[in-house]
Amino acid sequence: MGWRIGVIGGDGIGPEVVEQGLRVLRHLDARERLGLEEVPFDLGAERYLRTGDTLPDADFERLRDEVDAIYLGALGDPRVPSNVHAKDILLGLRFRLDLYVNFRPITLLDARRCPLKDKGPADVDMVVFRENTEGLYTGVGGQFKRGTPDEVAIEAELNTRKGVERIIRAAFDHAEERGAPSVCMADKANAMRHGHDLWQRVFREVAAEHPSIRAFHLYVDVLAMEMVRAPERFDVVVTNNLFGDIVTDLGAQLQGGIGLAASANLHPGQGPGLYEPVHGSAPDLVGKGTANPLAALLTAGWMLEHHGRADLNQEIHDAVRGCLLADEVTPELGGTLGTTEVTDRVIARLG
Ligand code: IPM
Ligand code: MN
Repeated sequence: MGWRIGVIGGDGIGPEVVEQGLRVLRHLDARERLGLEEVPFDLGAERYLRTGDTLPDADFERLRDEVDAIYLGALGDPRVPSNVHAKDILLGLRFRLDLYVNFRPITLLDARRCPLKDKGPADVDMVVFRENTEGLYTGVGGQFKRGTPDEVAIEAELNTRKGVERIIRAAFDHAEERGAPSVCMADKANAMRHGHDLWQRVFREVAAEHPSIRAFHLYVDVLAMEMVRAPERFDVVVTNNLFGDIVTDLGAQLQGGIGLAASANLHPGQGPGLYEPVHGSAPDLVGKGTANPLAALLTAGWMLEHHGRADLNQEIHDAVRGCLLADEVTPELGGTLGTTEVTDRVIARLG
């Protein structure tokens, strides 16, 4: 097929875990002749500290026009306390590439890693469709009388008909394609009467076009409770940007921790997706060789799936499951192996 991957290692352990994901991709490329090409991008705290650049137009345009997928490690560096570069790069790519789907699977691979009593892989198996281009993330709002006793700070939640409809449609389309029995929409319409009324109306409309899928609604506080009480209720969950951010961290713990959570930022049918492990840059682990690469590996698997190779994603998931079950993992997950060794074991299982 032939495709180019724009690589942004980023900060902290980002470059270390992305390198492991690339090793897995190179292995599969050699075996399957995928025609992968890696295109490195120097974006992150180092460059920002050196030049003041965060996401210059030239880099943005190359990412937009010259690659088929973007593979990002992590952003965040103690030397940049404002985190301005991370915001410009990560949120900048999400917004400027209009990657309106934040696809966040919550898949328990090893029952022992689930913090819930008596729940196993059959129970924790869902995917969250998090709206990724509006909501409370646009920066719309302002400050007034800042620093005075009378100060006011407004953070406006943006909900557009187009934005709400396309994420809800993406969730139902995914459910149709995967044969998922249900789609749950979560909002807070009982308190947020304008924007979330829009979500409710659009959800009912789109659900009516998919009669074979069971559509149900929960307020987001109830969703949080139910994900812990009865995660087996959920197959596909669709929600707004901020709620999706929060419930996918909760979901990350259900599947064994943030070190196992993968994600993809997508605009179906258009341009490159942005693939990133959900975890951060973990500055304290840099250079120790013990960062857990598994989320980055699973993320690479989703990149392959979204490029037509669901079979290879399944293989990566099976190999990662094999390592987890055999305790061939980094110290963070209770093992004794290093970053590279864990990847070696995954690659060995891929054959
Ligand atoms: C995530 C992160 C980001 C978000 C932060 C770093 C802005 O938490 O990808 O989940 O809130 O989207
Ligand atoms: Mn988050």
